[in-house]
Amino acid sequence: MNTTHKHIAFNVDTIRKDFPILNREVNGKPLIYFDNAATSQTPQQVIDVIVDYYSNYNANIHRGVHALSQEATDAYEQARIKIQKHFNAKHAHEIIYTSGTTHGINLVANGFSSILKKEDEIIVSALEHHSNIVPWQMLCERTGASLKVIPMNTNGELILNEFDELLNENTKLVFVNHISNALGTINPIKYIIEKAHAVNAAVLVDGAQSCPHIRPDVQALDVDFYVCSAHKICGPTGVGMLYGKEEWLKKLPPYQGGGEMIAEVSFEKTTYADLPHKFEAGTPNVCGGIAFGAALDYMNAIGFDVIASYENKLLVYATEQMLQIDDLKIYGTAKEKTSVISFNVGNIHPYDIGTILDKMGIAVRTGHHCAQPIMDFYQIPGTIRASFMFYNTKEEIDTFITALKKAVMMLS
Ligand code: ALA
Repeated sequence: MNTTHKHIAFNVDTIRKDFPILNREVNGKPLIYFDNAATSQTPQQVIDVIVDYYSNYNANIHRGVHALSQEATDAYEQARIKIQKHFNAKHAHEIIYTSGTTHGINLVANGFSSILKKEDEIIVSALEHHSNIVPWQMLCERTGASLKVIPMNTNGELILNEFDELLNENTKLVFVNHISNALGTINPIKYIIEKAHAVNAAVLVDGAQSCPHIRPDVQALDVDFYVCSAHKICGPTGVGMLYGKEEWLKKLPPYQGGGEMIAEVSFEKTTYADLPHKFEAGTPNVCGGIAFGAALDYMNAIGFDVIASYENKLLVYATEQMLQIDDLKIYGTAKEKTSVISFNVGNIHPYDIGTILDKMGIAVRTGHHCAQPIMDFYQIPGTIRASFMFYNTKEEIDTFITALKKAVMMLS
């Protein structure tokens, strides 16, 4: 792993050289990639780890006595320790590999099926992605428990005194994202966790959008569950992690049955493996797990403080420039927000602007961003969303603003 960034000042031109995809053209124009909240790009250092795995030690893990299996197992478990250290979990076995954030949430929701009772209540926030709404609705259908929602204001912030009102002795679980994917709002999760714990409710934080920008300390937060995906953090798709406090993971039943997650199997009775394997049935995404660890190495070598401060400069600059465009409205103006700008211009359909931007080589996301309740709140079908990472530049924002003005002119 190349750690050349460690002792040098942040230099975006140097960083960009690590990302081969940033050299490509789209529709004859240099790619400007502003869809980072959907998936981040992958640096050469992580691509090399993936190529090395498949070129040299691809094998099934925890099963073979042969050298390749041992090497793959060691690398996969080393990566788990990197993830543990990154999130400051107390134990490596509190880190469960998943296929991504959605898998982690469903694993926990499934586990609570046998714990929740009819009179129990669970709370989600108005700012959630569908993946942190639907599994809990399904859980409520299975158990008879009821779902309450923390409302939001027009800035895209949660209304905390209404959250306080929702909490009572029946509240068993609270689910909230750390950062809204649609608006970029950073939620006050420390406050939410403390208040929820005061009524003995457990808290799951969806960290899909925070992990690229913030390094969470799960022990300091005292959070019960934290989930994220590697592909948002310069890693590959199809792998992620669930952090769970040991006592919770011991309490929850396994999510899937299969190989690897058992201690003993007979037709009369099966006993389950210890943590973390109890939740890791089947052959996992071995290469993905190892590359996840490499992606965290890469991001940490740059440093999350440096990343957050640079991205905030991009956010402030882009916001100022965009607000100069007539009829442009930004959704999500929370005091605490990250480098995500959701917007519309007049009555122009987001899809039309997104399509013209793509013709000019600029990738943004358009639509409801898997957060239809937020769109319903603003009474809009969707937005255009530009989301920046540390490898984006001020010059790219300038090109984007010019392209956006052109698109608006063509569509008005
Ligand atoms: N959840 C991802 C997004 O916000 C896919 O785009």
